[in-house]
Amino acid sequence: MRAVGCMELGAPSVLRPLEIDRPACGERQVLIRTEGVSVNYADLQTRRGAYHAGGTQFPVIPGLDVTGTVEEVGVQVRTLRPGQRVIAFPHTGSYADFVAADEDLTFPVPESVSLEQAIACPLVTFTSRMLLEKVARLSPGETLVIHAASGGIGTTVIQMARLMGAGTIIGTVGSRGKTQAALDAGADRVVCLEDGGFSEQVLAQTGGRGADVILDSLGGTYTNEGLSCLVPYGRLVVFGNASRSYSELNTSALHASCRSVLGFSIGSTRKLRPAWFQDVAPAVLEDLALGRIRIPVAARFPLEEAARAHALLEERRITGKVILTV
Ligand SMILES: NC(=O)c1ccc[n+]([C@@H]2O[C@H](COP(=O)([O-])OP(=O)(O)OC[C@H]3O[C@@H](n4cnc5c(N)ncnc54)[C@H](OP(=O)(O)O)[C@@H]3O)[C@@H](O)[C@H]2O)c1
Repeated sequence: MRAVGCMELGAPSVLRPLEIDRPACGERQVLIRTEGVSVNYADLQTRRGAYHAGGTQFPVIPGLDVTGTVEEVGVQVRTLRPGQRVIAFPHTGSYADFVAADEDLTFPVPESVSLEQAIACPLVTFTSRMLLEKVARLSPGETLVIHAASGGIGTTVIQMARLMGAGTIIGTVGSRGKTQAALDAGADRVVCLEDGGFSEQVLAQTGGRGADVILDSLGGTYTNEGLSCLVPYGRLVVFGNASRSYSELNTSALHASCRSVLGFSIGSTRKLRPAWFQDVAPAVLEDLALGRIRIPVAARFPLEEAARAHALLEERRITGKVILTV
């Protein structure tokens, strides 16, 4: 079958069409004929080799989620049938004509959800719900700061936090041109990182109080800076390192203030705590079915042009989500 991946790590141009074996469908798995995949920042990191701590196995096929039609079901599968349109989180890269996914990581797409929204939604909606509900445990009325607020996760977190009763939602963006997209998603205020000192801006926007929850996908110095505007009992969740570095924390910043620094990875959760997917699925699918969450799609490319999609995301020129269609 056809896939798109790379035989060496590097720039977006290393991505190219490849012929690989069609995956076998395990007893508790479904084989899915791919209709589309969402392009996530993690796919760029996979292509660069940032996640291959145990050594790189080529070909590297990126892709963390898939939308498609069930082609085949394993003998032990009870809840899914051939022909259903589903979203899923396969264990292997989804930039391919077919992927196999576990039954408990595969969810029927509600009929009211368009194909485009289905393709754009899986990773951003499940990640956002887990971040807010399971990890940060956002309570109604709490002030939230979300970085990269105009991006895929950013615009989804803002909409979802609003539905969960968040108080003030402050987004940060890398450049002024991205402000409107974060406001359109529902942010109350947007802080531009180009102006420097985001924590001072967050304190200024909250009357000197700060944030209850900070969702930090940037890492590096941004994490330590976040602690300067996190209230007592506040939660800072590190779930990415787009700045390509991590911070060193002094735990004295946590002890007396009763604040927490937490970590999250949906890839680890898929392997180690797959039940979380089942836990958040009802709320995620209902929000999508009722149109309460809308993923802004910035661009769509055919799967063969994945390199163009990666370049677009890498250049930080777009807001919203990029999708690939088959
Ligand atoms: N842990 C998990 O399970 C998980 C799951 C999904 C996503 N994530 C993380 O969440 C973040 C957003 O993911 P996404 O797929 O929705 O991508 P995205 O937000 O659509 O795009 C990534 C954004 O990160 C910001 N960025 C990129 N390079 C940066 C740099 N050097 N310094 C500061 N900011 C930079 C840019 O926003 P600005 O131009 O506005 O700065 C860029 O638009 C990523 O960091 C990703 O790794 C983590």
